[in-house]
Amino acid sequence: MYFVHPQIKFNIKNLGNLLSCFFKKTNLESLKKVEEMFPAKKVYFTDMGRSAFRLIVEELQLQNSQILVPAYICDIFYSIFKQYNIFPIFLDVDKQTFNISLEEIEKKITSQTKSILICHTYGLPFNIQKIKENYQLLIIEDCAHSFGAKRDGKFTGNFGDAAFFSLYKIFPTLRGGMVVLPSGISKKLAKTRFSPRDFITLLNCCSFFSFLFKKYAGKVAPKYIKKEKLEQVGALNRVSLNILSWQLENFEKNLKKRRELALIFQQELKKMGFETQNSENNIFTFLSALVPENINRDEFVIALRKKGVFPTRIWHTPIILNPEVQKEYNIDISKFPNTIDVSQRIINFPLQNFYSQKDIKKMLKKIKETSVA
Ligand SMILES: Cc1ncc(COP(=O)(O)O)c(C=O)c1O
Repeated sequence: MYFVHPQIKFNIKNLGNLLSCFFKKTNLESLKKVEEMFPAKKVYFTDMGRSAFRLIVEELQLQNSQILVPAYICDIFYSIFKQYNIFPIFLDVDKQTFNISLEEIEKKITSQTKSILICHTYGLPFNIQKIKENYQLLIIEDCAHSFGAKRDGKFTGNFGDAAFFSLYKIFPTLRGGMVVLPSGISKKLAKTRFSPRDFITLLNCCSFFSFLFKKYAGKVAPKYIKKEKLEQVGALNRVSLNILSWQLENFEKNLKKRRELALIFQQELKKMGFETQNSENNIFTFLSALVPENINRDEFVIALRKKGVFPTRIWHTPIILNPEVQKEYNIDISKFPNTIDVSQRIINFPLQNFYSQKDIKKMLKKIKETSVA
Protein backbone atom coordinates (compact mmCIF):
# COMPACT_ATOMS: atom_id res chain seq x y z
CA MET A 1 0.00 0.00 0.00
CA TYR A 2 1.21 3.44 -0.92
CA PHE A 3 0.60 6.65 1.05
CA VAL A 4 1.56 10.29 0.57
CA HIS A 5 2.31 11.47 4.13
CA PRO A 6 5.77 10.55 5.50
CA GLN A 7 6.03 6.90 6.42
CA ILE A 8 8.55 4.87 8.37
CA LYS A 9 9.69 1.69 6.65
CA PHE A 10 8.79 -1.16 8.97
CA ASN A 11 11.88 -3.09 10.12
CA ILE A 12 13.54 -3.92 13.44
CA LYS A 13 16.22 -1.24 13.14
CA ASN A 14 13.70 1.53 12.49
CA LEU A 15 11.43 0.30 15.26
CA GLY A 16 14.37 0.45 17.68
CA ASN A 17 15.32 3.95 16.52
CA LEU A 18 11.75 5.12 16.85
CA LEU A 19 11.33 3.72 20.36
CA SER A 20 14.56 5.33 21.49
CA CYS A 21 13.12 8.74 20.46
CA PHE A 22 10.73 8.46 23.42
CA PHE A 23 13.45 8.00 25.99
CA LYS A 24 16.62 9.80 24.98
CA LYS A 25 17.67 13.39 25.54
CA THR A 26 17.69 15.54 22.42
CA ASN A 27 20.95 15.48 20.49
CA LEU A 28 21.49 19.19 19.95
CA GLU A 29 24.63 18.54 17.91
CA SER A 30 22.69 16.88 15.11
CA LEU A 31 20.18 19.74 15.04
CA LYS A 32 23.08 22.15 14.43
CA LYS A 33 23.03 20.81 10.87
CA VAL A 34 19.76 22.66 10.44
CA GLU A 35 21.17 25.92 11.79
CA GLU A 36 24.06 25.62 9.33
CA MET A 37 21.57 25.65 6.46
CA PHE A 38 20.73 29.28 7.37
CA PRO A 39 24.13 30.90 8.05
CA ALA A 40 23.00 34.50 8.55
CA LYS A 41 19.79 33.68 10.42
CA LYS A 42 18.36 32.38 13.68
CA VAL A 43 16.37 29.17 13.73
CA TYR A 44 13.68 28.10 16.23
CA PHE A 45 11.64 24.90 16.33
CA THR A 46 7.95 25.49 16.95
CA ASP A 47 4.95 23.25 17.61
CA MET A 48 3.58 23.70 14.08
CA GLY A 49 4.20 25.69 10.91
CA ARG A 50 1.24 27.93 11.65
CA SER A 51 2.70 28.91 15.04
CA ALA A 52 5.96 29.76 13.26
CA PHE A 53 3.98 32.03 10.91
CA ARG A 54 2.33 33.73 13.90
CA LEU A 55 5.74 34.40 15.35
CA ILE A 56 6.78 36.03 12.05
CA VAL A 57 3.68 38.23 12.06
CA GLU A 58 4.61 39.43 15.52
CA GLU A 59 8.34 39.86 14.85
CA LEU A 60 7.87 41.71 11.53
CA GLN A 61 4.92 43.65 12.98
CA LEU A 62 2.49 42.76 10.26
CA GLN A 63 -0.58 43.41 12.42
CA ASN A 64 -3.20 45.64 10.73
CA SER A 65 -1.44 45.51 7.36
CA GLN A 66 -2.06 44.33 3.81
CA ILE A 67 -0.35 41.18 2.51
CA LEU A 68 -0.17 39.52 -0.92
CA VAL A 69 -1.01 35.81 -0.62
CA PRO A 70 -1.33 32.93 -3.10
CA ALA A 71 -4.99 32.10 -3.78
CA TYR A 72 -3.86 28.49 -4.06
CA ILE A 73 -2.84 27.68 -0.48
CA CYS A 74 -4.45 26.05 2.55
CA ASP A 75 -6.99 27.96 4.61
CA ILE A 76 -5.14 27.69 7.95
CA PHE A 77 -4.06 31.28 7.30
CA TYR A 78 -7.59 32.63 7.55
CA SER A 79 -7.85 32.52 11.34
CA ILE A 80 -4.39 34.06 11.68
CA PHE A 81 -5.29 36.92 9.35
CA LYS A 82 -8.38 37.55 11.47
CA GLN A 83 -6.48 37.28 14.75
CA TYR A 84 -3.95 39.94 13.70
CA ASN A 85 -6.28 42.02 11.54
CA ILE A 86 -4.23 41.37 8.40
CA PHE A 87 -5.89 42.03 5.09
CA PRO A 88 -4.97 39.48 2.37
CA ILE A 89 -4.94 40.21 -1.36
CA PHE A 90 -5.05 36.92 -3.22
CA LEU A 91 -2.93 36.14 -6.28
CA ASP A 92 -3.78 33.57 -8.92
CA VAL A 93 -1.18 30.87 -9.63
CA ASP A 94 0.77 29.55 -12.58
CA LYS A 95 -0.29 26.12 -13.86
CA GLN A 96 3.22 24.80 -14.52
CA THR A 97 4.64 25.70 -11.12
CA PHE A 98 1.56 25.97 -8.86
CA ASN A 99 3.39 28.98 -7.37
CA ILE A 100 2.13 32.55 -7.80
CA SER A 101 2.52 34.24 -11.16
CA LEU A 102 4.56 37.46 -11.26
CA GLU A 103 2.01 39.32 -13.38
CA GLU A 104 -0.49 38.93 -10.59
CA ILE A 105 1.72 40.93 -8.22
CA GLU A 106 1.94 43.78 -10.70
CA LYS A 107 -1.84 43.76 -11.14
CA LYS A 108 -2.80 43.64 -7.47
CA ILE A 109 -0.15 45.40 -5.38
CA THR A 110 -1.27 48.70 -3.81
CA SER A 111 0.52 51.53 -2.03
CA GLN A 112 -0.71 49.99 1.25
CA THR A 113 0.82 46.55 0.67
CA LYS A 114 3.46 45.77 3.29
CA SER A 115 4.40 42.16 2.64
CA ILE A 116 4.09 39.11 0.43
CA LEU A 117 3.78 35.44 1.31
CA ILE A 118 5.66 33.27 -1.19
CA CYS A 119 5.03 29.54 -1.06
CA HIS A 120 7.54 27.10 -2.59
CA THR A 121 4.59 24.88 -3.39
CA TYR A 122 5.13 21.09 -3.20
CA GLY A 123 8.91 21.66 -2.97
CA LEU A 124 9.51 23.76 -6.10
CA PRO A 125 11.58 26.86 -5.16
CA PHE A 126 10.20 30.18 -6.38
CA ASN A 127 12.59 32.79 -7.79
CA ILE A 128 12.43 35.37 -5.01
CA GLN A 129 15.22 37.49 -6.46
CA LYS A 130 12.80 38.83 -9.09
CA ILE A 131 10.51 40.18 -6.36
CA LYS A 132 13.39 41.68 -4.39
CA GLU A 133 14.59 43.55 -7.47
CA ASN A 134 11.22 45.02 -8.32
CA TYR A 135 9.29 45.64 -5.09
CA GLN A 136 9.83 47.10 -1.63
CA LEU A 137 7.96 44.39 0.22
CA LEU A 138 8.72 42.30 3.27
CA ILE A 139 9.07 38.78 1.92
CA ILE A 140 7.89 35.80 3.95
CA GLU A 141 8.84 32.42 2.57
CA ASP A 142 6.37 29.61 3.19
CA CYS A 143 8.73 26.64 3.16
CA ALA A 144 6.12 24.19 4.52
CA HIS A 145 6.96 21.91 1.56
CA SER A 146 10.54 22.91 0.85
CA PHE A 147 12.88 21.87 3.66
CA GLY A 148 16.15 21.02 1.88
CA ALA A 149 15.23 22.56 -1.50
CA LYS A 150 17.89 24.81 -3.02
CA ARG A 151 18.02 27.55 -5.60
CA ASP A 152 21.34 28.98 -6.85
CA GLY A 153 23.09 26.82 -4.24
CA LYS A 154 21.16 28.32 -1.30
CA PHE A 155 18.47 26.62 0.78
CA THR A 156 14.97 28.06 0.60
CA GLY A 157 14.37 30.04 3.76
CA ASN A 158 17.48 32.18 3.15
CA PHE A 159 15.95 34.43 0.49
CA GLY A 160 13.23 36.40 2.28
CA ASP A 161 12.95 38.52 5.41
CA ALA A 162 11.60 35.52 7.31
CA ALA A 163 10.62 31.92 6.59
CA PHE A 164 8.66 29.12 8.18
CA PHE A 165 8.54 25.35 7.71
CA SER A 166 6.11 22.53 8.52
CA LEU A 167 8.27 19.57 9.45
CA TYR A 168 5.68 16.81 9.52
CA LYS A 169 5.05 17.20 5.78
CA ILE A 170 8.58 15.97 5.17
CA PHE A 171 9.56 13.90 8.21
CA PRO A 172 7.46 11.48 10.28
CA THR A 173 7.77 13.90 13.20
CA LEU A 174 4.09 13.89 14.20
CA ARG A 175 4.04 17.65 14.36
CA GLY A 176 6.61 20.39 14.13
CA GLY A 177 7.31 23.76 12.61
CA MET A 178 10.37 25.89 12.28
CA VAL A 179 10.93 29.60 11.92
CA VAL A 180 13.92 31.33 10.34
CA LEU A 181 14.40 34.99 11.27
CA PRO A 182 17.11 37.60 10.75
CA SER A 183 17.71 37.96 14.49
CA GLY A 184 16.82 36.37 17.81
CA ILE A 185 13.31 36.52 19.27
CA SER A 186 12.67 38.30 22.52
CA LYS A 187 10.07 35.95 23.97
CA LYS A 188 10.51 32.41 25.18
CA LEU A 189 8.54 29.72 23.36
CA ALA A 190 6.11 27.83 25.58
CA LYS A 191 6.96 24.20 26.34
CA THR A 192 4.79 21.48 24.74
CA ARG A 193 4.59 17.80 25.51
CA PHE A 194 3.97 14.70 23.44
CA SER A 195 0.20 13.98 23.57
CA PRO A 196 -2.17 11.05 22.86
CA ARG A 197 -3.14 12.87 19.63
CA ASP A 198 0.55 12.79 18.64
CA PHE A 199 0.67 9.07 19.37
CA ILE A 200 -2.18 8.41 16.89
CA THR A 201 -0.29 10.48 14.30
CA LEU A 202 2.79 8.39 14.96
CA LEU A 203 0.87 5.19 14.28
CA ASN A 204 -0.28 6.78 11.04
CA CYS A 205 3.35 6.78 9.87
CA CYS A 206 3.18 2.97 9.54
CA SER A 207 1.34 1.80 6.46
CA PHE A 208 -0.70 -0.87 8.32
CA PHE A 209 -2.27 1.75 10.60
CA SER A 210 -2.54 4.30 7.77
CA PHE A 211 -4.67 1.76 5.94
CA LEU A 212 -6.90 1.16 8.99
CA PHE A 213 -7.31 4.91 9.54
CA LYS A 214 -8.16 5.52 5.87
CA LYS A 215 -10.59 2.61 5.79
CA TYR A 216 -12.37 3.07 9.10
CA ALA A 217 -11.67 6.63 10.19
CA GLY A 218 -11.87 8.43 6.85
CA LYS A 219 -14.95 10.43 7.87
CA VAL A 220 -13.87 11.02 11.45
CA ALA A 221 -10.28 12.14 10.86
CA PRO A 222 -11.01 15.43 9.00
CA LYS A 223 -13.07 16.55 12.02
CA TYR A 224 -9.97 16.34 14.19
CA ILE A 225 -7.83 18.81 12.32
CA LYS A 226 -4.43 19.34 13.90
CA LYS A 227 -4.38 22.40 16.07
CA GLU A 228 -1.64 24.29 17.80
CA LYS A 229 -1.42 23.07 21.34
CA LEU A 230 -1.32 26.45 23.04
CA GLU A 231 -2.60 29.98 22.74
CA GLN A 232 0.99 31.23 22.87
CA VAL A 233 3.49 30.09 20.27
CA GLY A 234 4.76 26.72 21.49
CA ALA A 235 8.12 25.00 21.05
CA LEU A 236 8.43 21.53 19.54
CA ASN A 237 8.15 18.59 21.94
CA ARG A 238 11.17 16.40 22.72
CA VAL A 239 9.95 13.22 20.96
CA SER A 240 9.35 15.04 17.69
CA LEU A 241 12.74 16.76 17.94
CA ASN A 242 14.37 13.37 18.45
CA ILE A 243 12.58 11.92 15.42
CA LEU A 244 13.75 14.90 13.38
CA SER A 245 17.32 14.48 14.53
CA TRP A 246 17.20 10.76 13.60
CA GLN A 247 15.69 11.51 10.18
CA LEU A 248 18.36 14.10 9.41
CA GLU A 249 21.07 11.41 9.47
CA ASN A 250 20.65 10.42 5.82
CA PHE A 251 18.67 13.38 4.66
CA GLU A 252 20.70 14.45 1.62
CA LYS A 253 21.11 10.92 0.33
CA ASN A 254 17.38 10.35 0.71
CA LEU A 255 16.51 13.57 -1.05
CA LYS A 256 18.70 12.65 -4.02
CA LYS A 257 16.98 9.29 -4.32
CA ARG A 258 13.55 10.86 -3.94
CA ARG A 259 14.28 13.22 -6.84
CA GLU A 260 15.47 10.38 -9.05
CA LEU A 261 12.29 8.40 -8.40
CA ALA A 262 10.10 11.46 -8.89
CA LEU A 263 11.63 12.21 -12.29
CA ILE A 264 10.93 8.68 -13.49
CA PHE A 265 7.39 8.89 -12.11
CA GLN A 266 6.81 12.25 -13.83
CA GLN A 267 8.06 11.00 -17.23
CA GLU A 268 5.54 8.18 -17.22
CA LEU A 269 2.69 10.37 -15.97
CA LYS A 270 3.32 12.79 -18.86
CA LYS A 271 2.99 9.92 -21.32
CA MET A 272 -0.45 9.23 -19.83
CA GLY A 273 -1.56 12.83 -20.37
CA PHE A 274 -0.99 14.24 -16.86
CA GLU A 275 0.38 17.78 -16.61
CA THR A 276 3.27 17.57 -14.16
CA GLN A 277 4.84 20.34 -12.09
CA ASN A 278 8.15 21.86 -13.25
CA SER A 279 11.02 19.72 -12.02
CA GLU A 280 14.07 22.00 -11.92
CA ASN A 281 15.32 22.22 -8.27
CA ASN A 282 12.08 20.50 -7.15
CA ILE A 283 12.44 18.22 -4.12
CA PHE A 284 8.95 16.74 -4.61
CA THR A 285 7.70 16.83 -1.04
CA PHE A 286 4.45 16.28 -2.90
CA LEU A 287 4.66 14.63 -6.31
CA SER A 288 1.87 16.61 -7.88
CA ALA A 289 0.19 16.73 -11.28
CA LEU A 290 -3.03 17.77 -12.94
CA VAL A 291 -5.17 14.87 -14.14
CA PRO A 292 -5.99 14.94 -17.87
CA GLU A 293 -9.07 17.04 -18.58
CA ASN A 294 -11.18 14.02 -19.52
CA ILE A 295 -10.65 12.32 -16.14
CA ASN A 296 -12.86 12.97 -13.11
CA ARG A 297 -10.20 13.49 -10.44
CA ASP A 298 -12.32 12.48 -7.44
CA GLU A 299 -13.55 9.23 -9.04
CA PHE A 300 -9.98 8.50 -10.12
CA VAL A 301 -8.71 8.92 -6.54
CA ILE A 302 -11.40 6.59 -5.17
CA ALA A 303 -10.63 3.96 -7.83
CA LEU A 304 -6.90 4.10 -7.04
CA ARG A 305 -7.53 3.72 -3.31
CA LYS A 306 -9.33 0.46 -4.01
CA LYS A 307 -6.08 -0.73 -5.60
CA GLY A 308 -3.93 0.21 -2.61
CA VAL A 309 -2.62 3.53 -3.96
CA PHE A 310 -3.74 6.41 -1.72
CA PRO A 311 -3.17 9.76 -3.47
CA THR A 312 -4.22 13.04 -1.83
CA ARG A 313 -5.83 16.18 -3.28
CA ILE A 314 -3.84 19.02 -1.74
CA TRP A 315 -5.46 21.55 -2.18
CA HIS A 316 -8.88 20.63 -3.56
CA THR A 317 -10.27 23.32 -1.25
CA PRO A 318 -7.74 26.18 -1.26
CA ILE A 319 -8.29 29.27 0.91
CA ILE A 320 -10.34 31.19 -1.67
CA LEU A 321 -12.88 28.35 -1.81
CA ASN A 322 -13.57 28.58 1.93
CA PRO A 323 -17.09 30.15 2.11
CA GLU A 324 -16.16 32.27 5.14
CA VAL A 325 -13.11 33.65 3.33
CA GLN A 326 -15.21 34.40 0.25
CA LYS A 327 -17.69 36.33 2.35
CA GLU A 328 -15.13 38.16 4.51
CA TYR A 329 -13.01 39.39 1.59
CA ASN A 330 -15.67 39.58 -1.10
CA ILE A 331 -13.93 37.08 -3.38
CA ASP A 332 -14.99 36.76 -7.01
CA ILE A 333 -13.71 33.30 -7.93
CA SER A 334 -14.01 33.98 -11.66
CA LYS A 335 -10.88 36.16 -11.19
CA PHE A 336 -8.86 33.07 -10.23
CA PRO A 337 -9.25 30.71 -13.21
CA ASN A 338 -5.96 28.88 -12.69
CA THR A 339 -6.48 28.32 -8.97
CA ILE A 340 -9.95 26.91 -9.65
CA ASP A 341 -8.77 24.63 -12.46
CA VAL A 342 -5.81 23.39 -10.42
CA SER A 343 -7.97 22.70 -7.35
CA GLN A 344 -10.30 20.58 -9.49
CA ARG A 345 -7.55 18.57 -11.19
CA ILE A 346 -4.71 18.39 -8.68
CA ILE A 347 -3.55 15.01 -7.45
CA ASN A 348 -0.55 14.18 -5.22
CA PHE A 349 0.90 10.73 -5.74
CA PRO A 350 2.57 8.66 -3.02
CA LEU A 351 6.35 8.97 -2.86
CA GLN A 352 8.50 7.84 0.07
CA ASN A 353 12.27 8.09 0.36
CA PHE A 354 12.54 4.33 0.84
CA TYR A 355 10.58 3.38 -2.29
CA SER A 356 12.38 1.52 -5.06
CA GLN A 357 11.88 1.74 -8.82
CA LYS A 358 9.80 -1.41 -8.47
CA ASP A 359 7.30 0.44 -6.26
CA ILE A 360 7.06 3.25 -8.80
CA LYS A 361 6.46 0.74 -11.61
CA LYS A 362 3.72 -1.00 -9.61
CA MET A 363 1.96 2.28 -8.91
CA LEU A 364 2.25 3.40 -12.53
CA LYS A 365 0.69 0.14 -13.70
CA LYS A 366 -2.30 0.72 -11.42
CA ILE A 367 -2.58 4.36 -12.50
CA LYS A 368 -2.53 3.32 -16.15
CA GLU A 369 -5.21 0.65 -15.66
CA THR A 370 -7.37 3.14 -13.77
CA SER A 371 -6.98 6.15 -16.03
CA VAL A 372 -7.96 4.21 -19.14
CA ALA A 373 -10.75 2.18 -17.54
C1 LIG B 1 1.81 25.65 2.28
C2 LIG B 1 1.49 25.46 3.73
N1 LIG B 1 1.75 26.47 4.57
C3 LIG B 1 1.53 26.35 5.89
C4 LIG B 1 1.01 25.20 6.43
C5 LIG B 1 0.80 25.09 7.91
O1 LIG B 1 1.67 24.18 8.51
P1 LIG B 1 1.27 23.42 9.85
O2 LIG B 1 0.22 22.42 9.50
O3 LIG B 1 2.55 22.80 10.33
O4 LIG B 1 0.76 24.44 10.80
C6 LIG B 1 0.69 24.13 5.58
C7 LIG B 1 0.06 22.91 6.08
O5 LIG B 1 -0.96 22.84 6.69
C8 LIG B 1 0.95 24.28 4.20
O6 LIG B 1 0.69 23.26 3.34
